[in-house]
Amino acid sequence: MKIVILGVGGRLGAALLREYREKRDIAGFNHAQLDLASLDDVRQRLGAMNFDVLINAAAFTNVDACETERDRAFLINAEAPGVLAEICNAKDAKLIHFSTDYVFDGEKRAPYTEEDQANPISFYGESKLVGERNVLAAENGHVVVRVSWVFGPDRPSFIDAMIKRAQQDEKIDAVSDKFSTPTYTHDIAGMLPQFFDRGGEGGILHFANAGKCSWQEYAQWTLDCCRNAGVPLKAKTVDTLKLSEMKNWIARRPVYSVLSTVKYTELTGAAPRAWREAVADYITRFYSKK
Ligand SMILES: NC(=O)c1ccc[n+]([C@@H]2O[C@H](COP(=O)([O-])OP(=O)(O)OC[C@H]3O[C@@H](n4cnc5c(N)ncnc54)[C@H](OP(=O)(O)O)[C@@H]3O)[C@@H](O)[C@H]2O)c1
Repeated sequence: MKIVILGVGGRLGAALLREYREKRDIAGFNHAQLDLASLDDVRQRLGAMNFDVLINAAAFTNVDACETERDRAFLINAEAPGVLAEICNAKDAKLIHFSTDYVFDGEKRAPYTEEDQANPISFYGESKLVGERNVLAAENGHVVVRVSWVFGPDRPSFIDAMIKRAQQDEKIDAVSDKFSTPTYTHDIAGMLPQFFDRGGEGGILHFANAGKCSWQEYAQWTLDCCRNAGVPLKAKTVDTLKLSEMKNWIARRPVYSVLSTVKYTELTGAAPRAWREAVADYITRFYSKK
């Protein structure tokens, strides 16, 4: 089975390439090697390759920049995934396309299922939702995997920013009234191969680590894990901040975007591990000896 991964310079794409490259027949493209904004180039380059599975982890992920660069966001997050699906259809390959919890408006107070109505409140969410629809319209068993609050060693995210701040300052804070679930790239890489099989049914799939938290709880657990792992920090506790105090944000963000993984468990018989365990594992592996 030949697999091509797009977005290997990103947090998730780099993790997938790193975790699969030894055991599988893999090719990867980063942004400089293949620009999803050049649709003709994408058609030509990928159209000329042989593969069974195409994983799209590339996206315009800067939520605020998507508000001001709407054409670009639409091209990369909405149009390009449709072109990838067409390319896959032509060679009967399977597309696994990543999407986001930000397709939801955040008004619910129970985990969002794949059947829940998407209603994005940002242009990032809007562009990603159109991308999902373009992929699924190709009707060839393609899979859209929605993930939330992704972290991992290949590109810094919230967790790394919190550790850095806690190393520099005695007082740090984080938003306490916005909820979702941190999800480790290692865990996404571990579960994804179950969906490589061409025979599998297509559609939307939610995947996240188990449980839910606010950014403040996420940051506090990060500091607690660092302490247990012997990582020296100046800050011990994370103060709370209100979402309404985040004045420099341009885009609106859903206040609640926990993804239900009931469908994932029904399909695979497996359950994602708790986010606290995943975070502890990440800190032990990548911070404890620094
Ligand atoms: N990070 C999260 O918390 C989160 C949450 C929910 C869903 N997701 C989804 O998960 C997927 C992976 O995200 P990630 O966390 O790995 O984000 P990331 O680290 O920002 O990676 C995205 C990659 O896409 C590349 N890219 C941007 N524009 C491109 C273009 N025109 N052509 C080719 N490549 C381009 C970026 O390259 P440059 O950096 O060079 O532009 C980057 O390497 C995305 O679909 C995202 O929407 C992420």
